[in-house]
Amino acid sequence: MKAIGVNGSPRKKWNTATLVEKAIEGAVSVGAKAELFYLYDLNYKGCISCFACKTKNGKSYGKCAVEDGLTPVLKKVNEADVIILGSPIYFGSVTGEMRSFMERLFFPLMTYTDPPGSLFCRKVRTAFIYTLGATEEMARERGFDKHIALNEMLMKMVLGASETLCSYDTYQFEDYSKVYAPRFDANQKAKVRAEVFPIDCEKAFKMGARLVRELR
Ligand SMILES: Cc1cc2nc3c(=O)[nH]c(=O)nc-3n(C[C@H](O)[C@H](O)[C@H](O)COP(=O)(O)O)c2cc1C
Repeated sequence: MKAIGVNGSPRKKWNTATLVEKAIEGAVSVGAKAELFYLYDLNYKGCISCFACKTKNGKSYGKCAVEDGLTPVLKKVNEADVIILGSPIYFGSVTGEMRSFMERLFFPLMTYTDPPGSLFCRKVRTAFIYTLGATEEMARERGFDKHIALNEMLMKMVLGASETLCSYDTYQFEDYSKVYAPRFDANQKAKVRAEVFPIDCEKAFKMGARLVRELR
């Protein structure tokens, strides 16, 4: 059983990284082998619309034909049993690197049929972990939940299954006194970090373990 974590945050030790690592630890705790990738370490671009993946009888039909730093990661994700993606929300969406990764992973597998179909034919379990500076209420007011729900729908359509874990109101700066950010209450942020973030970490761990168990 192979579990893959893909972190779309530029920060390797912060909120998203911690939660993706917890989910992977959960998967490992029930016997999975795991590998973790940091997208910001890789040199790649998003889909370039070459349509090699859609060309009839083409050698790349159903696969991304672009060769770059993402190619080995796409191969491993395509072979994994449990796929855990993680991204902060930047301006209401996943980070640019995560978006580019998603284009390269999902577009080749998705068929332009009516209704759309998928060329992915293995049974896998997947999850997407999001971290947001906004509270859950603010996220709903600003429509971030719609973007998150759309991604879940896309992953279910292409990979067959997916679930979502959101960690809200995250602690963003190492030292709030050193940045100009008057809209944040540093004490409130520290309270959420101390009281809520550990619960989210526990949820991520349990989710990772459950995804592996569900495949047995
Ligand atoms: C460029 C940028 C844009 C952001 N945009 C949003 C946003 O639209 N909504 C939100 O809730 N948080 C936003 N945030 C906050 C991050 O999503 C939040 O702090 C997240 O937990 C950071 O993840 P990390 O700790 O893994 O880096 C933004 C942060 C940055 C740096």
